[in-house]
Amino acid sequence: MNVDLLIHSAAQVVTCASPDGPKRGKAMRDPGLIPDGAVAITGGKIVEAGPSADLRARCTASQEIDASGKVVCPGFVDPHTHVVYAGDRVSEFEQRLGGATYMEIMQAGGGIASTMRAVRQASEEELLAQSRQRVEEMLRLGTTTLEIKPGYGLDVENELKMLRVISGLQQALPVDIVPTFLGAHAYPPEFQGDHEGYLELIVAEMLPAAAEWYAKSPFPRQGKSFYCDVFCEAGVFDLEQSRVVLEAGRAMGLRPKLHADEFESLGGVSLALEMSAVSVDHLDVTQPGELRALAGSDTVGVVLPVVNFHLGSDKFADARGLIDAGGVLALATDINPGSAPCPSMPLAMAIACRFQRLMPAEVLNAATINAAYAVGMGRKLGSIEPGKQADLLVLDMPDYRHLVYEIGVNRVETVIKNGMVV
Ligand code: NIG
Ligand code: FE
Repeated sequence: MNVDLLIHSAAQVVTCASPDGPKRGKAMRDPGLIPDGAVAITGGKIVEAGPSADLRARCTASQEIDASGKVVCPGFVDPHTHVVYAGDRVSEFEQRLGGATYMEIMQAGGGIASTMRAVRQASEEELLAQSRQRVEEMLRLGTTTLEIKPGYGLDVENELKMLRVISGLQQALPVDIVPTFLGAHAYPPEFQGDHEGYLELIVAEMLPAAAEWYAKSPFPRQGKSFYCDVFCEAGVFDLEQSRVVLEAGRAMGLRPKLHADEFESLGGVSLALEMSAVSVDHLDVTQPGELRALAGSDTVGVVLPVVNFHLGSDKFADARGLIDAGGVLALATDINPGSAPCPSMPLAMAIACRFQRLMPAEVLNAATINAAYAVGMGRKLGSIEPGKQADLLVLDMPDYRHLVYEIGVNRVETVIKNGMVV
C-alpha cells in the first residue's frame, strides 16, 4: 500500500481509540497501547495503526519518521480556553498572593473587567498578535485543537472584534479552533446598575451579530458548531439569567455549554443537563446528586485543575467520582489571564493525576478523545484510528506515563497536524 507518511518503530503508539463514542468508566484506564508501533497516514487522514514490522512490510511511504525509543499519541484537544486577550493580570496575581481572593478582586472592579479594559483598548491587530503567540506556544506543547471563548469585549463592537481575531487565528495557524460565544462572562461597567439591560443587549444585539459572524466565518464549512457559554456563578450570572442567554443562543443555532460550580453551587449542572449541553465545565463544588446525574448523561464534564492550582485552592472537582460513576470526563487548561495563565495540557494532566487521583491513561484519554467530544469533534479527531484526521505527536520519552511523571519539561518533539509536520 502506498501512503504519504509512515511513522514507525515507536516504543509505544498510544491510540486512545474509542470507536463507539467517548470513553467512560474502566475504558478510561485503557490507553489503547501498541508496543513497537507504527501509524500510516494518507491525505491528512490515518489509514492504519499497528505493529511496526507489519506496517513496514506492507507500506511504501513518501515520507518516513523513525520514532525509535519514542511515543506517538494523538494531538491534545484543549476544550475550554480564553486564549484571546490583551495584557496580563500579574499585579492581581501578586494581590492574591497577599491574601485577596479571585472574587474579591473581581467585585472591586478588577478581574475580567480589567482584561476587558485592555481588550477594548487593543486594536484587532494587537489582539491577534498577542493571542497568536499564545496559541503557537500551545501548539509547541502538543495542542492541535482548541476551543476559544471571547468574552472580554462585553459590548457588541468588541465581542465582534474578538470573534474576528478567532477567525484570524484559524486562518494563520495549523490548528483546529472551535468558537464559543461568551457575552455573558461578566457585566461591563456601563451596565453595573442595569443587569437586565445587559441581558437584553446580549439577546437583541450581541447574539444575532455573533450568529451572523459565524455564518460567514470558515467554521461551519469545517463542520464546527458555534457554542454559547455563560459564567454561571454567584455574583455573576445566576441560574435564570444563564438560562435566558443559553435559550436565546439555542434559538439562533448556538449549542449550549456552561461554566458551573467554580466557587458556589447554583444548580448549573442541572441546567446544563436540562439543555443537553455539550459540556459543563469547572465542577469544583458540584453536589454529589448533580454529579451522579451528570455521570448518567451524554454531557461531558470538563475539569480545569490548573485553575485550582493557580488560585491556591484545594477544592478540586471530583473527577475521580465522575469517572467511577460512568460519566464522560475531559480536561482543559482554561488558559486565561486571571485564573489560569497556562498553555500546557501536560501540566493540567500532571495536576489532575496528583490532586484528583487520576491515572496516566485516564488523563490522556480525558485530554484527547473525550476532550474532542467536549467540542463536538469526537467523530473526526482525538484518537489514532483509521479514518480520523491525522493529528499526532511524537514524544521524546520511552513510555507515555512520562507525560505526567515529569513536570515542567516539554517532551513534544514533533507535531503533526492534518498529516503534515508542523
Ligand atoms: O474559567 N470563570 C470565568 N472565566 C474564567 C476566568 C476568566 C478571567 O479571570 O479572566 C475561568 O476561570
Ligand atoms: Fe473558563
